[in-house]
Amino acid sequence: MNQDQLKEQVGREAVKFVEDGMYLGLGTGSTVRYMVDALGERVANEHLNLVCVATSERTAQQAAELGITVRNLDDVDHLDLTIDGADEIDDNFQGIKGGGAAHLWEKIVAINSTKNMWIVDESKMVHKLGQFPLPLEVIPFGSTHVLKKLTDMGLHPTFRMTETGHVMTDSENYVIDLHLNEIDHPHELAAQLDGIVGVVEHGLFLDMVNTVIVGRSDGPEVLR
Ligand code: 5RP
Repeated sequence: MNQDQLKEQVGREAVKFVEDGMYLGLGTGSTVRYMVDALGERVANEHLNLVCVATSERTAQQAAELGITVRNLDDVDHLDLTIDGADEIDDNFQGIKGGGAAHLWEKIVAINSTKNMWIVDESKMVHKLGQFPLPLEVIPFGSTHVLKKLTDMGLHPTFRMTETGHVMTDSENYVIDLHLNEIDHPHELAAQLDGIVGVVEHGLFLDMVNTVIVGRSDGPEVLR
């Protein structure tokens, strides 16, 4: 199976955990895209009554087009479950997210969700975090100074750019990626990054997830 097929496999597996009446958080990314497609099928075929909150404009639009009810996070009082992708997950279920520049909204939704599930193809499972560049969402004002500070800290930052300029998040902020190769102490790094003025949020998602579904050629593996 190729990577896309594994992403579709876990997307389909994840929606089996969705129950009628749930308040559901919807993540962002290509794996989540498959999950939202499968959720749309269940909503249409089984007339499920769900209220969903999306972690990006992209996901909100896809869900709405499929007839899934989407509300703002501020208009719901709780979320039962959030299903999201990830860029790396280590042996302790700590993760890096933000490859799709959505980690700020993803983290806000995740911390307001009773349960969090990540769905990934097997290439995302690692022993140690850091091969995948760690994303930071930063306020544009003064961001070159934030970049310099991160350089001085030895964190190897680069702005995430397209041919036309800065990648912009849904909150109209920039993204800086930290090229670290290995993260030995994720909690310490998270605390350091939390202390930098101008960094809105980093992509270290620590102690947040209850269930991981890993796509493998011989079938999805549910880890808890
Ligand atoms: C977006 C994310 C995504 O969940 C993460 O990048 C995984 O994406 P994909 O499923 O496309 O590999 O954190 O900000």
